[in-house]
Amino acid sequence: MATVLIDSFGRKAVDLRVSLTDRCNLRCTYCMPEEGLQWLAKPQLLTDDEIVRLVRIAVTGLGVTEVRFTGGEPLLRPGLVSVVERCAALEPRPELSLTTNGIGLARTAAALADAGLDRVNVSLDTLDPAVFRTLTRRDRHRDVLDGLAAAEKAGLTPVKVNSVLMRGVNDHEAPDLLAHCLEQGYELRFIEQMPLDAQHGWDRSSMVTAEEILERLSARFTLTPEPGALRGAAPAERWTVDGGPGTVGVIASVTRPFCRACDRTRLTADGQVRTCLFAREETDLRGALRGGGSDAEIAELWRAAMWGKKAGAGIDDPGFLQPDRPMSAIGG
Ligand code: 5AD
Ligand code: SF4
Repeated sequence: MATVLIDSFGRKAVDLRVSLTDRCNLRCTYCMPEEGLQWLAKPQLLTDDEIVRLVRIAVTGLGVTEVRFTGGEPLLRPGLVSVVERCAALEPRPELSLTTNGIGLARTAAALADAGLDRVNVSLDTLDPAVFRTLTRRDRHRDVLDGLAAAEKAGLTPVKVNSVLMRGVNDHEAPDLLAHCLEQGYELRFIEQMPLDAQHGWDRSSMVTAEEILERLSARFTLTPEPGALRGAAPAERWTVDGGPGTVGVIASVTRPFCRACDRTRLTADGQVRTCLFAREETDLRGALRGGGSDAEIAELWRAAMWGKKAGAGIDDPGFLQPDRPMSAIGG
């Protein structure tokens, strides 16, 4: 049943993002309201076995070569280490990575590396514990820094750091964040804030743009576009900093979307395929799994879903509509 996840524009999805839970232990203001969200109930969530089966179908039958676990906060999923271990045993073995807020990583980094995890992306928006409290509504800054250090030590490298800048909150910290990451050997990438928050508070006019971020960084550092600047499927455009070897990336999802090179397919924690973060439709694989569907039938549903992937997200288009699910329920 070997085939690939190709869409009608000729893009091939080889990068699978699997959301393991929609829950989170932080409340970042650009993501969720203070009181949290209506979480998925346990029976709605895919079981560990169901997740591993879908990853196996994707890797062995659909040409997926990279698997990234996301959330919500994926470290909240009790079976994470064993899911990683089972995915690492697949043939061909996919590249395995994790996007996390870093809380609890100090405890689990070594076990995750032993299980076969290759890399992590950790979110860190500020170096100031007070700003962290304002931004995430939780007093866990130290846990994140410790998690980052543990990831580096466990060899989950290169450790990547994701930062979202919010105007008037942490946007003054861009150069400090870069200095810190260069010093620690982390690869920093700034992500433009996207309209994916549950409370629909995103506002194009107050968003900190990639251009602004580069301007702020240029006040302290000399940035040179990376040689071979064609970014391919990687959404981050990269610059070497002060002649290298350090680099910085900017993911300009809104002002310079990379949809044409997109190579992603997504699976939500309740077993729905999404062709895009911003898709307004989903394809139910959980129903097929629980209804006794064969591997070939599930692969065919997935393939058909991806064929219908839209050309782009169109965030900057006048008719743009935010998807019904917030980011925390889709996966980063
Ligand atoms: N816009 C941009 N990035 C976001 N993230 C969460 N919500 C948004 C948003 N609305 C980031 C997190 C994390 C990654 C999964 O996505 O900070 O780094
Ligand atoms: Fe949690 Fe990530 Fe949302 Fe912050 S952005 S509340 S860490 S899911």
